[in-house]
Amino acid sequence: MDNRFPVLKNDLMVRAANGVKTERVPVWVMRQAGRYLPEFQLFRQKHNFFDICRSPELASEVTLMPIRRFDLDAAIIFSDILVIPQALGMEVQMVGGVGPVLPTPLTKPEDIKTLLKLDIDVEKELDYVMKAITLTRHKLEGKVPLIGFSGAPFTLMAYMIEGGGSKTLAKTKKWLYQYPDESLQLLDELTHVIIAYLVAQVKAGAQLLQVFESNAGFLGPKQFNEFSLPFLNKISEGVKQALNDLKVPTVPMIVFAKDAHMAIESLSHSQYDVISVDWAIEPSRARSLAGNSVTLQGNLDPCALYSDVKQIDLMVKEMVESFGTQRYIANLGHGIYPDVNPGYTLM
Ligand code: CP3
Repeated sequence: MDNRFPVLKNDLMVRAANGVKTERVPVWVMRQAGRYLPEFQLFRQKHNFFDICRSPELASEVTLMPIRRFDLDAAIIFSDILVIPQALGMEVQMVGGVGPVLPTPLTKPEDIKTLLKLDIDVEKELDYVMKAITLTRHKLEGKVPLIGFSGAPFTLMAYMIEGGGSKTLAKTKKWLYQYPDESLQLLDELTHVIIAYLVAQVKAGAQLLQVFESNAGFLGPKQFNEFSLPFLNKISEGVKQALNDLKVPTVPMIVFAKDAHMAIESLSHSQYDVISVDWAIEPSRARSLAGNSVTLQGNLDPCALYSDVKQIDLMVKEMVESFGTQRYIANLGHGIYPDVNPGYTLM
């Protein structure tokens, strides 16, 4: 695949993810493409959120915004995890100041059959994402690698049931207690869609993949082991197997299971190359749980960026010392907040 694209000049991210020595710690910022950037906010006044996602030209433009501004070591394709529920036939609106709203959420297991087309042809339904990835690979001219991504099954299921963000995820967790079999069935079907989607992204040019289980922290260890971990594992195994079968070179995979510290050890034995950790765990503790055969990514508190540059500098140094400079990717512990002053985000 790669010979269709400009040669990658900065491969620090790929090397760090693969456990190959790097002369410097690579850095990128979760949710770097959007929100806090004034140029993005201007762009958003002119374009609807999903119109940007669906236009390869517009999506690649937003993807490149942080790359033009900062000396980052990776780009992440501009899209959203909710394009999957949308492709499955659910309406998703992006409401300014509120976030995503799904006006007709799943309320009972029977809704799965009426609402969703779980056997969709992902390459066709989400072809705009693949086109955006291919175009962006060309526009990047090999400057840095391009990360593709997807939401993980439990996080997507939660949005499909809650109809948007939630403080407790009570509706979703009610499903886990009342309809465990149907929940597992839905998670399994979403897993198949996600695997096809991530494979298609690599075929289109994605050079790394990140799987966002942003809602992992709502689950206790038992529920995490039943409703999240098996599907995260199925995704990494399924994507790598499918790429091997297609004779497409595999790419490093990053898993971000926010607040799932109990899973760091088992994830370190999985097919994921990188475990992204949030700020609520000491880097040294994360390293001792993960061992030395996996790369760690993280974990500065996004709110640390409200400090002055000098303080940020100190906190970053402390973080890097604690993680160590090898098998490590510097990042935030979750996405950057919209009100962060971008003048301060150059780490
Ligand atoms: O760097 C990037 O921002 C790349 C693109 C990207 C978006 N969403 C664009 C976006 C990525 C990687 C995501 C992932 C995503 N989306 C996650 C997982 C990561 C995480 O932060 O936990 C989740 C849970 C979502 C769902 C979602 N989309 C929420 C909760 C919101 C509202 C709050 C917010 O994050 O801004 C969105 C909206 C969204 N997705 C925006 C952008 C740029 C801002 C909305 C706007 O422009 O109106």
